[in-house]
Amino acid sequence: MTKQTSTKALLALTLAGGALWGAAAQADEDAQLVINGEIEIVTKAPLPAHMEEANMDAIYSGWLFRADETQQTQMDDFDNPGMIFVDQGMDQWNAVDGSEGKSCASCHEDVETSMKGVRAEYPKWNDNAEEVRTLVMQINDCRTEQMGAEPYGYTSGKMANMEALISLQSRGMPVDVAIDGPAESMWAQGKELYYTRTGQLDLSCASCHEENYGNMIRADHLSQGQINGFPVYRLKNTKLNTAHARFKGCVRDTRAETFKPGSPEFVALELYVASRGNGLSVEAPSVRN
Ligand code: HEC
Ligand code: HEC
Repeated sequence: MTKQTSTKALLALTLAGGALWGAAAQADEDAQLVINGEIEIVTKAPLPAHMEEANMDAIYSGWLFRADETQQTQMDDFDNPGMIFVDQGMDQWNAVDGSEGKSCASCHEDVETSMKGVRAEYPKWNDNAEEVRTLVMQINDCRTEQMGAEPYGYTSGKMANMEALISLQSRGMPVDVAIDGPAESMWAQGKELYYTRTGQLDLSCASCHEENYGNMIRADHLSQGQINGFPVYRLKNTKLNTAHARFKGCVRDTRAETFKPGSPEFVALELYVASRGNGLSVEAPSVRN
């Protein structure tokens, strides 16, 4: 998946004063991700139909671009530090909270059964609310409307724990986010954001994650910026990170003003980015640097 540095990237190189792009590094396309010796994860898949015009040959999980040791950490749940947060999420699942005296388990019972396959379809249109909901929005809706509890902070540790617990129940299942019907206009807005260049560096998400995946940027091996692995345990900050926190960091890196986690713009962007991973496996909680 090594790619030539494109003209657009060379433009960015000039704008950034020359220190941005490095030589392409080879990712091992044949590396296989099998978790606990049994859960086979699809880390490369054909381009989803809506991406026919994208400058890419296939879609790849971010796992393929990480160093061997980082990859290995995700291959066994005993080594994966993200699993500690899943345990915390399980405690939250069973904890009574709020004015109604209920826990998640009061209504949804076994998380293994009730939440199987849920992550794979989010963000998702909700008919009653007439809105596209991220998993985070749905969790908070249950907290406020069903439990009479305070919402979790959008990118908080408690939210990441709960998201990881729920996502784990879909691990190995293909991402399958719907982009047609009532979700379509928000999806189109997300696509627009993905390709819009911003900031002093005049870069879009696509400048890095479509035009330059496989290349080195400073010390980092650029991936396609997929979110099938979220929430992600990062070795860098030793905690679980949510997708919107990652979006915020990436926008900041272009030296642009960023949208707020949970904003309609980031919800639209999440829907669009998720749909670029349709066909990859849900991997959460994944491990990255
Ligand atoms: C009083 C009952 C109740 C409680 C307590 C409750 N929920 Fe829900 N939950 C619901 C109902 C009803 C729905 C379907 C709502 C809808 O479709 O608008 C739902 C839907 C969901 C969904 C979406 C499932 C899907 O298939 O899309 C998730 C995820 C979820 N709840 C998580 C949680 C979590 C996490 C908690 C605890 C923090 C919780 N819920 C607490 C009643 C509850
Ligand atoms: C200046 C280049 C650059 C731009 C522009 C950029 N990113 Fe990133 N992004 C990175 C780097 C570097 C990483 C860390 C290495 C990797 O996973 O690619 C990263 C990582 C990510 C990840 C984590 C992938 C994983 O598997 O853990 C996501 C998701 C992501 N970016 C999304 C976005 C989105 C959405 C945008 C546009 C709002 C964006 N990025 C813009 C450089 C960029």
